[in-house]
Amino acid sequence: MWGGRFAAGPSAIMREINASIPFDKALWGQDIAASKAHVAMLSAQGIVTAADAAAITAGLDQIAAEYAANGVPEDWDLEDIHMTTESRLADLIGPVAGRLHTARSRNDQVATDFRLWVRDACDELETGLIALQVALVTRAREHAGSIMPGFTHLQTAQPVTLGHHLLAYYEMIRRDRSRLADARARMNECPLGAAALAGTGFPIDRAATAAALGFDRPTANSLDSVSDRDFALDFLMTAAQISLHLSRLAEEFIIWASQPFGFVALPDSLSTGSSIMPQKKNPDAAELVRGHSGRIVGSLTALMITMKGLPLAYSKDMQDDKPPVFEAASLLTLSVAAMTGMVAEARFRTDRMRAAAELGYATATDLADWLVRQADIPFREAHHITGTAVRLAESRGIALDQLSIDDLRGIDARIDETVYAALSVEASVAARASHGGTAPAQVNLRVAEAALSLGLEL
Ligand code: ARG
Repeated sequence: MWGGRFAAGPSAIMREINASIPFDKALWGQDIAASKAHVAMLSAQGIVTAADAAAITAGLDQIAAEYAANGVPEDWDLEDIHMTTESRLADLIGPVAGRLHTARSRNDQVATDFRLWVRDACDELETGLIALQVALVTRAREHAGSIMPGFTHLQTAQPVTLGHHLLAYYEMIRRDRSRLADARARMNECPLGAAALAGTGFPIDRAATAAALGFDRPTANSLDSVSDRDFALDFLMTAAQISLHLSRLAEEFIIWASQPFGFVALPDSLSTGSSIMPQKKNPDAAELVRGHSGRIVGSLTALMITMKGLPLAYSKDMQDDKPPVFEAASLLTLSVAAMTGMVAEARFRTDRMRAAAELGYATATDLADWLVRQADIPFREAHHITGTAVRLAESRGIALDQLSIDDLRGIDARIDETVYAALSVEASVAARASHGGTAPAQVNLRVAEAALSLGLEL
């Protein structure tokens, strides 16, 4: 491609270190689409003839069909997807192929292709996240009244409902979708026409190529267009955030599926056995989701550090932008699908959850609240009285509501029989009916809102 300037070809090492075709062949569809938009514009502007444009377009269509049928050939001498396609075009239609690169550089070409790819990845991820939300909301509705222990410090804190717990993840994913939509909207400007770095002297129509490729507008600064990758970083930051949420959800399933908890039976389809221990059913998919989050965050770190300190405009370092984005996108797509299946198909063992909620004095706060409400005792004092009651029950190895009324009166004379109604786990969750609280009535409200926003018939 640049034979005129060079007396000798590249060494084997140069060829190998320079080649991006092994990974950027993933951009072939975007590369062909952008080239077709470019040549149509060149023709409309009278920069190439209609006949040459038609030959180029037909050649590009044929190449697309070849790639789709046989894959993209990997010739390191051709370096990347752009030169691979241009070289094949020359084989097919001869020297006219050389007109395609008028008023364009690989710098604006790759920036355009990559934006298109990342934009598609956003759309694919959005579809996956909606499916995950649907699974969460569907199971939350089913379990709006299923009682489980709620934890802080992984110590039993207060009873909650499983539906409420699942909807917590619905909210996280709702915000993630908004992050993704922001990233997508921000990246949707077309760099094509920025050329190598300074723009071009040809009378191109950047608005036309932008529109043809579904961008909102052309980018405003040619140097910025070819040298920033913040659109890819926006995607990776969002991907990293999503993967952290998925990792936490995966961790819940791992804990819940362990025998001491026994809160959930994982779907067989998303579990594995052990080659030596016949009784084992391992939560490998959840563990890999948890593990993949490390690699996804690593991808973000990799690209941030690649970009740090690069002067304007393009530098070859930027060729390394693609592998981390491709890796993060594919790991995340799989992770979202795995967690969707897990949520949709898990068998929640509500009997075990409920029994666990009875343990650990989970309704101690309800006793304190009762003292505040019924006996007008300041909360701090009520907290102290309740602590004494918990200590007594614990010393006898019984639950709070198994203490006799005489025991309770012995601790504070203001306590009467009506306190027992407040000490059941049902009463405890039903009482927490503040906006966004765990009461089944609140969970049902949130389920209805979520279903409405997802267009889900429940
Ligand atoms: N393969 C290159 C990349 O992905 C394309 C751009 C090459 N530009 C250049 N000035 N060498 O970044």
